[in-house]
Amino acid sequence: MSNDKVQIFDTTLRDGEQVPGCKLDTDQKLIIAERLDLLGVDVIEAGFPVSSPGDFTSVHEIAKLVKHATVCGLTRAVENDINVAAEALKVAKKPRIHTGIGTSDSHIKFKFNSTQEAVIERAKRAVAHARNFVGDVEFYAEDAGRTDNAFLAKVCEEVIKSGATVLNIPDTTGYCLPEEYGEKIKYLKEHVAGIDKVTISCHCHNDLGLATANSIAGVINGARQIECTINGIGERAGNTALEEVVMILKQHPYLNLQTDIDTTLLYDTSMMVREKMGMMVQANKAIVGANAFAHSSGIHQDGVIKNRETYEIINPAEVGVTESAIVLTARSGRAALAYRAKKIGYELTKVQLDAAYGTFLKFADKQKEVIDDDIHRIMSQVNKISKIAIA
Ligand code: KIV
Ligand code: ZN
Repeated sequence: MSNDKVQIFDTTLRDGEQVPGCKLDTDQKLIIAERLDLLGVDVIEAGFPVSSPGDFTSVHEIAKLVKHATVCGLTRAVENDINVAAEALKVAKKPRIHTGIGTSDSHIKFKFNSTQEAVIERAKRAVAHARNFVGDVEFYAEDAGRTDNAFLAKVCEEVIKSGATVLNIPDTTGYCLPEEYGEKIKYLKEHVAGIDKVTISCHCHNDLGLATANSIAGVINGARQIECTINGIGERAGNTALEEVVMILKQHPYLNLQTDIDTTLLYDTSMMVREKMGMMVQANKAIVGANAFAHSSGIHQDGVIKNRETYEIINPAEVGVTESAIVLTARSGRAALAYRAKKIGYELTKVQLDAAYGTFLKFADKQKEVIDDDIHRIMSQVNKISKIAIA
């Protein structure tokens, strides 16, 4: 079966940048946008042009700079938002306007004090207005995760008639379970007239830690675009992490879904976003965390030294990480000590290793990690008793 392409829509510069403390200036955004283009994302959501003059300028400059990806600007279902976004995007090679409105009962009642009928009218008008400027219009049904499926289908059908080319089904509050979100996409595929002419997009938030699982459930059920951010940054608990969904599709080829991402750039891109946004990444973060390819327990280290695949499902080189790390702690065994010692030049006999290991454990019990300097000290003690060969 031939592989279906899943488009990667990166919203690091819009949903990601909304995070307190992650604000970027235009120059920083341009550097990230250029990197995202090189990484191979299909769409860069560059900002929300009407929100501030600075964001307008950023979207405009990104639209000028980006060579391959579609450049997208967010709007509400408000005529002036759309006019401003169209102006910011007019220099883009491939412009997209992303417009939409809340569709859940909660949004309709509390945000708009409105009715389902009035919301459909606003949605249709917004999409039709955006189509006056660009051929590519994405519609988001905000809080689709908590929107009744029958009503959501009706909204989708109407905006397709008005000219939407992409339907974004956001789980705005990160509420859905993967099965439920997958079912929602399946329901739309089966109940919306004209759905096969458009791309369905997943936009999942991580409030329950399910953003990645929900996005994958979405594409398994027929969505063909995932909205995500580098390192999973975004409102509250964040968005779907780009590096996670991309590697899931790559590591599970039987799904027959692929992306155009150059995965060898993932780690560097993650580092760039951390540094520019001043937003650190937890050490145990999948794919790009400091410990994602680090092994510290003796049993695991012994396995990885014999064959990396015993405890690694991804070759670190595939995501741009130079090599797996064997971290020496009090839980490490002789194999790990011999491996690390050899890396810095010591070839140990079995007797020397036994001697070194005793000293190593004394070091390791006193500190969190035994580093190369400590190994040199341990080796000099062993050397006094028995000459160690240089590897
Ligand atoms: O989470 C969300 O619903 C959004 C929309 C504006 C697309 O970010
Ligand atoms: Zn969002």
